[in-house]
Amino acid sequence: MIDDFIIEFDKSLKVLFDKPKSSRPRPDSHIEDTELTQNEKNCTIELMRVNQTGEVCSQALYSGQLLFHRHSEGTESLKKASKEEIDHLNWCNSRIHELGGKTSLLNPVWYVGSFLMGAFASALGEKYNLGFLAETEHQVTQHLKDHLSKISKKDLKTSKILEVMAADEEKHAINAKELGGVELPHQVKKLMSLMSKVMTKLSAKI
Ligand SMILES: [Fe+2]
Ligand SMILES: [Fe+2]
Repeated sequence: MIDDFIIEFDKSLKVLFDKPKSSRPRPDSHIEDTELTQNEKNCTIELMRVNQTGEVCSQALYSGQLLFHRHSEGTESLKKASKEEIDHLNWCNSRIHELGGKTSLLNPVWYVGSFLMGAFASALGEKYNLGFLAETEHQVTQHLKDHLSKISKKDLKTSKILEVMAADEEKHAINAKELGGVELPHQVKKLMSLMSKVMTKLSAKI
């Protein structure tokens, strides 16, 4: 257990303060950067900050969810999805920095909160764990699609990144359901959506 704690602590430091490497090239690498106004850049930076925080949370969530399910049927699928989330984190980080923005200072707080939520879902049992994951991925997909409609139409690079991320998240949600994730009660879904709204509002600004 102490070994697990050290591994998890090390992972959290890497996610929060290191630059995690992507296993896939950035989806927009073949697209030329277009001239954006400062307002358009600021809009993209704000939305990508939220997405970057979402990806930090997703690393914490997956770590928490694997805590009590290291050797179950869904473990490999969770690990594969978690690896794809590292790609997302890397793409968000680099897009924010190339537009001159900064990531949210509150990320360590969200990391701890998400890890605990993941661990709680994990302790409830695999079908709830996977159900929680499916709902999280579903809500993230909706956020990304909403962001796609908000960024400037000229920002083709960010659009491409968001499109690929949304497709990945949709696939993660389907996988979690196929592995046996149950539909969560309506009130739980509402609470999750409320918490994500708080996170979105704060991480966009701080
Ligand atoms: Fe992601
Ligand atoms: Fe995902």
